[in-house]
Amino acid sequence: MDERQAYVDIVNRVFAHLDAATTDSAADVLRVPTSLYTDPELFALEKETIFRRSPQFVCFSSDLPGPGSYTTFDDLGVPVLLTRDNAGIVNAFLNACTHRSARLKEGSGIAAALSCPYHAWGFDLTGRLRTVYEEKTFGTIDKSYYDLVRLPVQEKYGMVFVGLAPDVHVSVDEILGEMAPLFATWNLGTAKVVGSHEWHLKTNWKLALDTFCEGYHFTPLHKATLGDVSIGNLSVVDFFGPDRRNHRVAFPNTSISNLRGKPEASWGLEIFHEFQFVHFIYPNISLLVSPAAVELFQLYPGQSVDEHVTRYSCYWRAQEGGAGWGVDDPQAHFEFVRNIVTKEDYWVSANVMKSLKGGLRSFNTFGRNEPALHNMHRAFARGVGRALEQAPLVLDGAIR
Ligand code: FES
Ligand SMILES: [Fe+2]
Repeated sequence: MDERQAYVDIVNRVFAHLDAATTDSAADVLRVPTSLYTDPELFALEKETIFRRSPQFVCFSSDLPGPGSYTTFDDLGVPVLLTRDNAGIVNAFLNACTHRSARLKEGSGIAAALSCPYHAWGFDLTGRLRTVYEEKTFGTIDKSYYDLVRLPVQEKYGMVFVGLAPDVHVSVDEILGEMAPLFATWNLGTAKVVGSHEWHLKTNWKLALDTFCEGYHFTPLHKATLGDVSIGNLSVVDFFGPDRRNHRVAFPNTSISNLRGKPEASWGLEIFHEFQFVHFIYPNISLLVSPAAVELFQLYPGQSVDEHVTRYSCYWRAQEGGAGWGVDDPQAHFEFVRNIVTKEDYWVSANVMKSLKGGLRSFNTFGRNEPALHNMHRAFARGVGRALEQAPLVLDGAIR
């Protein structure tokens, strides 16, 4: 894997677009029905199929730092407990005791073994039942039938993915596809968390996700924060993974033009500072990788079609500074990104949801310049077993 060449290719594709005043594009515009964001039946189906049947990114390796570390995952209705055992292997279990299903652990921490808080059955870090409290009063029991319920899990390239049912296939190499070599080079599992933030927003989870997939909005919406830093409406888009349902968008920084005066042969790995790589990993992860930081956004459906939760965690990769966007301090960088999403992106997402709930808009339009949105929503449609048809062009409402 030639990491430098991967970045050189991106820069050259950006320059070609700058010269031609173009951007990576879809063949045509796509009108999608607004019911994608408002239909409660579709919402229920998405939770049962898209979320329950596809591998879920749960954490980075640094979130399970050593033998005995554990963490929990509860965002999708299946309580999951992850442990790193004494051999360093990550295990995933249903976070429920096999006696009478009490929850074993909360949050994250370190434990030599797992003891149930209800009647103190004891499990080792690999999920084997080891001890039964007051065993002689309990009666005859074959412990081998009472190991914790295992869930599929794989840790690779510093990332941990879990399946929420025993038969979900989890392969990090398949998920990352063509991007796997770059992730192997980056090894994001050594990054350390700077801060986390959760938004509970009155908007559909897919509306929130849409904002991470295009740069058309950069100049108008982010004028005050990113206007001088990022080139708007110019993106380099690649698709990867199963059915090419994942995407990576490279958003160039304005400073990329400084490379014009330097021969390509002199460009080194530092050219990665000249753009932002935003990865969408189906169905709900946005992962921005830059030389100094990783921004992880995990988006989940809420209780109803118009509610969602996003958890943002900022991880620091660099020894010191250099995240780009003119911000070098990790905490300041985390707050900078959090503020942009809160005051700009998610302010709009909530507004859009209000408009759609008003009921007078039958379709939204994805421009040719928003190809990642086309691809992502087609993948969601396939995930629920439906086709995504071009919505009819109609005059919405009585007054326009
Ligand atoms: S439910 Fe865990 S020991 Fe009883
Ligand atoms: Fe944005």
